[in-house]
Amino acid sequence: MDNAAPTGPALRPLRIGDTAPDFEARSTAGPVRLSDFRGRWLVLFSHPADFTPVCTTEFVALAREAAAFDARDCALMALSVDSLFSHFAWLRMIRDRFDVEVRFPIVEDPTLVVGRAYGMVCAQDSDSATVRTTFFIDPAGTIRALSCYPASVGRSIPEMLRTLDALQAIDAAEGVAPANWQAGDALLRPPAQDIDEVFAAEGQADWFLREATPRKGERR
Ligand code: BEZ
Repeated sequence: MDNAAPTGPALRPLRIGDTAPDFEARSTAGPVRLSDFRGRWLVLFSHPADFTPVCTTEFVALAREAAAFDARDCALMALSVDSLFSHFAWLRMIRDRFDVEVRFPIVEDPTLVVGRAYGMVCAQDSDSATVRTTFFIDPAGTIRALSCYPASVGRSIPEMLRTLDALQAIDAAEGVAPANWQAGDALLRPPAQDIDEVFAAEGQADWFLREATPRKGERR
């Protein structure tokens, strides 16, 4: 199957709030279509190349944490310019060397049709490798967070899980997640939206800096 070009206009870089462009492609887990993941969270991420040091450590770490993503009802999908058979050979090497099976799909994107639509390749870059871009896509297919790291810096899997936890927590309760927030910590209230609320607040900073009231039975 040739990669089916992502649908919808991609005239500017994708941003938070955009619908993740749909695509179909071959992957190590068989043919995949992005829209088939609707109803679950999805972390879609690119890596520069198979058989490279940082990428190998990322895939080993992600495969070892696959159950943690699953527990959050979140699927993983990787993508690079390498061929399907390169992906297979790399996953076989990872299994034999690190004793862990990468079971989430790795998409082949030899023409970079998906990578370009998602801004995973620098347009002016002569190198066709994708950078380490990560998209957090919610069950409705909306991009809720994204990050971009250079080829030389590996991603933090705990930070990926924390981002997912924060997005899921703010969807479940009206609140915003402060710096260094971890699952189980209090959320903050979204800031006041009108001057009456500002004047009515008790403390000087309470109109913009206050913990959200947990819903009945909600864990702190
Ligand atoms: C790496 O994964 O180690 C890597 C990939 C591409 C360029 C540099 C490093």
